[in-house]
Amino acid sequence: MATAIAPANIAFIKYWGMRDTHATLPYNGSISMNLDACLTTTTVLFDPNLPDDEVVLAFYGQAPQTAQGRARERVVQHLDRIRALAGIPTRARVDSTNTFPADAGIASSAAGFAALTLAAVAAAGLHLDTYELSRLARRSGSGSASRSVPTGYVEWYNGDDVGSYAESIAAPDHWHLANIVAVVDTSVKKVGSAENHRLAVTSPYFQTRLDELPARLDAVREAIAQRDIARLGPLIEVDAISMHAVCMTQVPPSFYWNAATMAVMEAVRTWREQGVQAYYTMDAGANVHVICEGHQRDEVNHLLQALPIVQFTIANNVGPGARVLDSAALVTDTN
Ligand code: PMV
Repeated sequence: MATAIAPANIAFIKYWGMRDTHATLPYNGSISMNLDACLTTTTVLFDPNLPDDEVVLAFYGQAPQTAQGRARERVVQHLDRIRALAGIPTRARVDSTNTFPADAGIASSAAGFAALTLAAVAAAGLHLDTYELSRLARRSGSGSASRSVPTGYVEWYNGDDVGSYAESIAAPDHWHLANIVAVVDTSVKKVGSAENHRLAVTSPYFQTRLDELPARLDAVREAIAQRDIARLGPLIEVDAISMHAVCMTQVPPSFYWNAATMAVMEAVRTWREQGVQAYYTMDAGANVHVICEGHQRDEVNHLLQALPIVQFTIANNVGPGARVLDSAALVTDTN
């Protein structure tokens, strides 16, 4: 048995479009920061007495529920990968809890599959390094889970099955950035990101986005290294708009933004004119992630909370990556 905790992450350069759905390989590299307040904690117990896997998910604000259908299937398929690596047939009980709303564009699947990967690997008695854990989390189908494994600021490379892993490009204490999630909608999204990753290529703007990305990735990497919010912020916004423009022009098109999303974007632009260095980005959901430096975090949080269309906020600093909290396998090793 083992328990692991993993953060959600917010991408500054988005992963959009999957070129290999079997191995979950992206068309482009991406860069993110881990969120220290949006966490999933997962316990995996391999039990020879279990006839089948049992998956119990406790979503934010809801009682624990036994997962059914596709949600259960994705967890079981990932356990199968780890069982194959460990050479064990044993079924497992999985218990998972979230500190934030799932399926609303706050990377709940990234945190969930990173935590599941670390807990199941430790519970199966396997010893894998961060690179291997990140590749394995990527293969879960939620590619961005690979970026929730390493610490702080993270880049996920566009490579083959071996070359496509994520690594830390700066530790959390390199630069105190904050991400305040302005929650405007907690309903489950209509089209999951897996489906849209397959459709991305149907947008006439997809190739243009891919052509732009090498230079934008370099610029984001440099802005992080130089702790330059005035350079990083506009790049984050451009990339979010580019990803959503592709999404809105896919066949069939998909819209994650709603009127509240647009209103928060407008408010952030107005505050910027008044000297608040805050920038927005959106994942596959309507909620707006507002990025600023740590010294403006409380001010930005209060401004967002005062907007009538914002239901609540979640204020995050840059956080560590996924880690095992408690593992019977690790205890056995040290004895
Ligand atoms: O990893 P997935 O399949 O949940 O897709 C993530 C897609 C975005 O959140 C929109 C972008 C990203 O890079 O996190």
